[in-house]
Amino acid sequence: MKNLVFNSEQDSVKISFLEKTGEISTLIPNTNKNFVILDKIVLDLHSSFIDELKAKSCSFFVIDAPEKQKNINTCLEIINMMQKLGFNRSDAVIGIGGGAVTDLAGFVASSYMRGIAYFQIPTSLLAQVDASIGGKTGVNHGNIKNFIGSFYNPKEVFICSEFLNSLDDQEFLNGFSEVLKHCLITSKASLMNLKELADEIQNREPNILLKLIEESINIKAQIVTEDFKEKGKRKFLNFGHTFAHGIESVNSETPILHGHAVLIGMLMALDYSKEQGSLSKDSHKVAKEILKGFKYDFTSIKLDANGIFEAMKSDKKNTLGINLVLLKEIGQPFIFEEPSNENLKNFIIKFINDFEE
Ligand SMILES: NC(=O)c1ccc[n+]([C@@H]2O[C@H](COP(=O)([O-])OP(=O)(O)OC[C@H]3O[C@@H](n4cnc5c(N)ncnc54)[C@H](O)[C@@H]3O)[C@@H](O)[C@H]2O)c1
Repeated sequence: MKNLVFNSEQDSVKISFLEKTGEISTLIPNTNKNFVILDKIVLDLHSSFIDELKAKSCSFFVIDAPEKQKNINTCLEIINMMQKLGFNRSDAVIGIGGGAVTDLAGFVASSYMRGIAYFQIPTSLLAQVDASIGGKTGVNHGNIKNFIGSFYNPKEVFICSEFLNSLDDQEFLNGFSEVLKHCLITSKASLMNLKELADEIQNREPNILLKLIEESINIKAQIVTEDFKEKGKRKFLNFGHTFAHGIESVNSETPILHGHAVLIGMLMALDYSKEQGSLSKDSHKVAKEILKGFKYDFTSIKLDANGIFEAMKSDKKNTLGINLVLLKEIGQPFIFEEPSNENLKNFIIKFINDFEE
């Protein structure tokens, strides 16, 4: 087992990397009582691991529909239950599931009696490489995602590759977009390494995956350690995301996988970087080929240039113009404030025409 410890704000966050779920329960510290907030699918697919937790002094709250239940009503239901069971500051919350469950569990932990210990067990690739790092917790409100929330670090995160075996291919790729993104914004060598390891990655070889997840976590951890509240460098993590939010917005009636929208968003950001003269033709070609080498299924994604552009215009992160993260080179991101709406709109129209050919 490998460990990584990084400092975030005043906290020290420990991350343990494991191949087998059986190793986790022995490592969870013996707090007085644990309140486990758990994804139903994980309960069904990894029941022996959950049985081991049951042997510890744990109470359980099972989430059947993670994104739907990621709201303040679920938090209140959990908080009421914890109160009735007499949970106090010497106890802990454990979140087990994808990012929706771990965001919700982290928010409960941060608000219960002004904060009790939180242990995070992310079970989707997206939650392991992205949602588990950086201390963002929260729930949706009305139809606005993550509108209510806090910055609150877990005491420890347990990353276990065995959980990833039960993800279907597209859910796996959903999280893999963040691994690709972390490489694109920090290192050409790491991106080339993903190309070399493409077969092992798609076959989910545990030792390869754990190494890549660790690298990805290290990249995000370094960025959020420097800029916890997203005032500077952390904005680079939005690479591809401004376009992706536009794509998600035009698909809001039949929601699509976030990572798939991000993958298209990153292809757009690469093209736009080349168009602005910042990214060389060679690097652009290499990066696009690598992204396109993974078997993303985009068939259910609707691309409507006008809708994407309008949604991007209303992004809360904009300043005078629309803010985009572009690349000077693979591994060298910068913030570009697009002064001309016309340019951007024409670019989106052209990108979609070429993409759909
Ligand atoms: N806090 C952050 O910094 C941060 C960053 C990115 C995303 N997020 C949040 O994370 C959520 C998206 O994460 P997600 O894609 O993990 O969503 P999710 O939690 O909805 O999980 C996706 C699906 O995978 C299932 N699942 C989870 N683990 C599984 C496993 N091991 N085997 C089989 N199925 C499994 C879930 O039941 C669900 O159906 C969003 O709510 C988003 O806002 C938070």
